[in-house]
Amino acid sequence: MTALSPLPKDQKEVRALSLGIECLTQKANPSEFLERNLLNSQTCQVKERYLAPFEPLNLSVSATSLRRSIELIYLLEGALEFKMGKLSHVLEAGAFLVADQQLGNVKLKAVTPLRYLHFNLAYSSDQIGRELSMLSSDLVSLRLLFARSDQELMYVRLKQGEPMFLSPHEVTNTDELYYILEGSISSQDEALAGLRLKAGDVLRVKNLASDVMIKAETDLRYLYFASAPSFNGMSHELLEFQRLAEEVEAQDGYTSEHCRRIQGLAIATGQTLGLSSERLHTLSIGAYLHDLGKIKVPKEILQKPAALSSEEWQIIKRHPSFGAELLEGSSYESSAIIVAQHHERLDGSGYPLGLQGNEILTGAYIVAVADTYDAMTTDRPYRKALSQDTAFAELRRFAGIHYPELIVDAFILSRQQAFQALQTSSTHF
Ligand SMILES: [Fe+2]
Ligand SMILES: [Fe+2]
Repeated sequence: MTALSPLPKDQKEVRALSLGIECLTQKANPSEFLERNLLNSQTCQVKERYLAPFEPLNLSVSATSLRRSIELIYLLEGALEFKMGKLSHVLEAGAFLVADQQLGNVKLKAVTPLRYLHFNLAYSSDQIGRELSMLSSDLVSLRLLFARSDQELMYVRLKQGEPMFLSPHEVTNTDELYYILEGSISSQDEALAGLRLKAGDVLRVKNLASDVMIKAETDLRYLYFASAPSFNGMSHELLEFQRLAEEVEAQDGYTSEHCRRIQGLAIATGQTLGLSSERLHTLSIGAYLHDLGKIKVPKEILQKPAALSSEEWQIIKRHPSFGAELLEGSSYESSAIIVAQHHERLDGSGYPLGLQGNEILTGAYIVAVADTYDAMTTDRPYRKALSQDTAFAELRRFAGIHYPELIVDAFILSRQQAFQALQTSSTHF
């Protein structure tokens, strides 16, 4: 693994981790520094800068520049005047500028104290990477602000409580930068021991050794920069699958929250069992997409109010295999087996294959328990929700028969802990 470059003295380094992650925390008063070096590689330099009112913002791009580079400006705080001939305009926090040669005769000046991110990116061809696009679901929204040659800048929004996984990049030596604009993140990951970052803090990632799980403690906004194409890989498939999974749950008489709840329950159980971040990542996707295959089951069967014929029941029982097939060949292939096995049971009474015991993955058992619990504790068209205690008793009754005892115990423990945490936090207000 390549070591990260040492941090300049004006930065406070919290932890340089052997994993390939570095955290740079914001100083208490951002105006105390004029410049923070966030990334410095041969082709990309990223700095956070501060300007006092009326100071000019100088760009180094000019028509005569020998070095082919492009500059990006993202305004973090304050207002910036943009002047071209007689035309003037004031830009505010959140504004984003791409400065190429054509911007040579533009004058930029701080109107108020100003903080901004400055990206100086060298490039070797004029090729525009891909069309700028945006993708969003209820929980995540990704906007590609810039894509050229091999560099990408994205703006990401994440809902509170959503897990977020840092994964090793497909391209080695890719520099990745997460700049938190709003909200805070934390990690229970062993390697990151209680990491907590807030607005203005930065995560610098290079040659990550393995997945790391991070959680959005609040609604979160951040900028993500990578020195290799990432947008498509990160976004498209997952969001597409998410939309499909939500569509399926709606057809099945649940709200779209079902997928998300199963995901949260499964991750909490996995954490109680001490699974690695890598396995938690696979589990998290498998849990979210567990019923994806129902998209291939005709609606008339899925929503039939009367009892199902045995042929119809046979079709429904194939949904785990349909879901796994949809995931095969995608970047989420490792989660396919969890999807395939989420209705298998310890004693062989499940479907579609009637697997038993150790033939079934821990992740699949976790999803099975979480799914059963959620079905019991949710109002369904044919009955009212059961209480948490009744649901626990029911799960215990089938421990050692449908699910391994260890999984049921971990599930119940993680629920009780979550319940306790909720009570403790509500007594503080
Ligand atoms: Fe299912
Ligand atoms: Fe389900």
